Amino acid sequence: MQEQIDLYGEQIENSKINTQEELEEFRIRYLGKKGIITRLFEDFRLISNEEKKKTGSQLNLLKNKANEKYLFFKEKLSHAFQQSFGDLTLPPDAIPLGSRHPVSLIKKEVISIFSKIGFTVAEGPEIEDDWHVFSGLNFPLEHPARDMQDTFFIEKDPDILLRTHTSSVQVRIMETMKPPIRKIFPGRVFRNEAISARAHCIFHQIEGLYIDTNVSFADLKQTLLFFAREMFTEKTQLRLRPSFFPFTEPSAEVDVSCTICGGSGCNVCKYTGFLEILGCGMVDPNVLESSSIDSQKYTGFAFGMGLERIAMLKYHVNDLRYYFENDVRFLSQFRSSY
Ligand code: PHE
Repeated sequence: MQEQIDLYGEQIENSKINTQEELEEFRIRYLGKKGIITRLFEDFRLISNEEKKKTGSQLNLLKNKANEKYLFFKEKLSHAFQQSFGDLTLPPDAIPLGSRHPVSLIKKEVISIFSKIGFTVAEGPEIEDDWHVFSGLNFPLEHPARDMQDTFFIEKDPDILLRTHTSSVQVRIMETMKPPIRKIFPGRVFRNEAISARAHCIFHQIEGLYIDTNVSFADLKQTLLFFAREMFTEKTQLRLRPSFFPFTEPSAEVDVSCTICGGSGCNVCKYTGFLEILGCGMVDPNVLESSSIDSQKYTGFAFGMGLERIAMLKYHVNDLRYYFENDVRFLSQFRSSY
């Protein structure tokens, strides 16, 4: 018995434990129910009392030795296991947050400003027919905007095309709604233009339409002034220049006092003190009539603005291409809680 105790004592001391599997093997071999030490204790009961006296304490020592070795490596390996994950008490890495696109930020802001004065949002299709983009808006047949150079045609006769402005949604709304109408239409528009810092073949507009009894040009002007002061600063001034659109009469182009110099003149406003932001006018009676709205009873105004243009004025990023390139170095500058 003593010999066996010595032999296993040596084996326990020399056994190498580097992995969880080796630890488990060790436990089964020495400490398991059918393991060596259990077996030795069973043999112990059979030996003479004299021999028991000699070997009893030795056998207990062997058992303790195996137990200690087992516990020591158990602790060591679980420590190594944890360390393979790094320090588990450290806070986790921050998940990188995305950011809203500047054009989306502007769109949300424009919608929220107009919603304060009762405008609600409507949308229309990007692929349109000639009627909604041109004819229903009083464009003469030979109008240059219908030209192949401006418009992306998908089919000819009858014409199916990508809308060149969101004014097409005006026609759709007038066809389906009865006045009073107070709506804004955000959306993408398409024009066959060479891409440069100042022009792109895809851009975004928001159109507004207000039709009711007794709507006047003064209402239009005041609505736009409210918008400009909410969007830019309380001191923003408006300038209306006479213009022409086939679907509005009279028509105007609207400038705001320069967002950089406030009107005193700088290189952004080319020392004019003003920057153009949108086109507008009173809805042409022909447009009302072609959508079966009584132009004797109702009047209305419409306006349309480019969202990239507003973004340029607000964020001072003056190359349109940045808005379309998906460069995260550009986009991540617009992190915002808005
Ligand atoms: N649709 C015009 C454009 O794209 C803008 C506009 C809208 C003008 C409504 C007047 C009224 O340039």
